[in-house]
Amino acid sequence: MRGRVVLGVSGGIAAYKAVEILRLLEKRGCEVRVVMTRHATEFVNPRTFAVLSGFPVQVSQWETPTMPGVDHVELSHWADLLLVAPATADIIAKMAAGIADDALSTYHLAHRSRVLIAPAMNTVMWWQPAVREALDTLTARGATVVTPDSGELACGDAGEGRLAPVEEIVHRALGMLPPRGALGGVHLLVTAGPTREPVDAVRVLTNRSSGKMGTALAQAAADLGASVDLLHGPLSVPLPLGVRPHAVETAREMEEALAQLAPGADAAFLVAAVADFRPAAAVEGKLDRREGHLAIELEPVPDLAAGLGARAPRPYLVVFAAENGPNRERALAKMRSKGADAVILNNIASPGTGMDASDNEVWILSAGGIDHHVPRAGKDEIAREILLTLSGELLASRSTR
Ligand SMILES: Cc1cc2nc3c(=O)[nH]c(=O)nc-3n(C[C@H](O)[C@H](O)[C@H](O)COP(=O)(O)O)c2cc1C
Repeated sequence: MRGRVVLGVSGGIAAYKAVEILRLLEKRGCEVRVVMTRHATEFVNPRTFAVLSGFPVQVSQWETPTMPGVDHVELSHWADLLLVAPATADIIAKMAAGIADDALSTYHLAHRSRVLIAPAMNTVMWWQPAVREALDTLTARGATVVTPDSGELACGDAGEGRLAPVEEIVHRALGMLPPRGALGGVHLLVTAGPTREPVDAVRVLTNRSSGKMGTALAQAAADLGASVDLLHGPLSVPLPLGVRPHAVETAREMEEALAQLAPGADAAFLVAAVADFRPAAAVEGKLDRREGHLAIELEPVPDLAAGLGARAPRPYLVVFAAENGPNRERALAKMRSKGADAVILNNIASPGTGMDASDNEVWILSAGGIDHHVPRAGKDEIAREILLTLSGELLASRSTR
């Protein structure tokens, strides 16, 4: 469990985005309870939050709690963080003034730990001295504010006031949780995505890797407190937050960057789908259309995993093996041939999993004897499970490096 968050939702048009915030927090391993203002229920039905969080939503202080752990004082003992998103001008003013006349403002006064506020409002409201002063008061008392974005607003105006991107809000929230991270102080190197090998000035040889698994792993590692270098080819997914990205294009560039970054890492997760072959010599300029077949000579690309596995000292090394089914022996043979410490057997045979898909089914196998099956799940969940399963071995290997 990453942390306990009370998500306070107030009555702005961006209230629907709080549903995504709840989902993302849960995906990243947080437990969440939701408190809404009465006005927020005009925008989103509390049932949505109740179903997704698995707990009743507090809207009124006058309802008898239907289960333990939802009343404001009990919640304040439970919570690590109060995240108010979206925060209306009204709730911000109430929080600054210490007003406690509904469930959310009362909870805020009872809350004992950190407060993160994600305002969202019309740009004229955002620049009102009353709002600015209230936010200054709250930050002076220790609250953190996620500055809204600029752009087109729901009301048709343009300017500052739009709720910051939900990913950013969740990232800031995770950063404010007490360090429960299983990987605190660990330095990880993750490779992700495909490589692109030039055929001529405009054509490339590449593969279908999207970078989803590698970026999910990098994000999960950062969320678990690790310091993460992400070495990636051209990705089809957004970069994770809170990691150091290093963009490369070809296998050769990846090889060079790996050689630079690996010595500083405690563990390396080689998830990138690096080309096995590349054109022996890229043609200068553009190949013209012509009659008949065209033969391009390909040369093998050095095995980057085996290269790293042969080094001493080297990071705890994890490789990925895409297999047509749960072929443990083949995956373990691959791990040994590369001198790796662990292998993630990725079953690409079951529909909807594997390269470019959102889900995966994996077996986590290690030279140290770990043999753990993770049934089909989203790549974020799989990533967390991989890291938590290997964290013991990974941490132990640091002392022997
Ligand atoms: C359609 C609509 C959209 C609104 N959007 C916002 C908003 O984005 N931000 C804001 O501060 N107030 C907004 N308001 C005004 C608030 O709903 C109003 O100030 C309300 O009293 C806030 O109550 P609460 O803070 O208890 O949720 C909106 C009102 C309406 C009718």
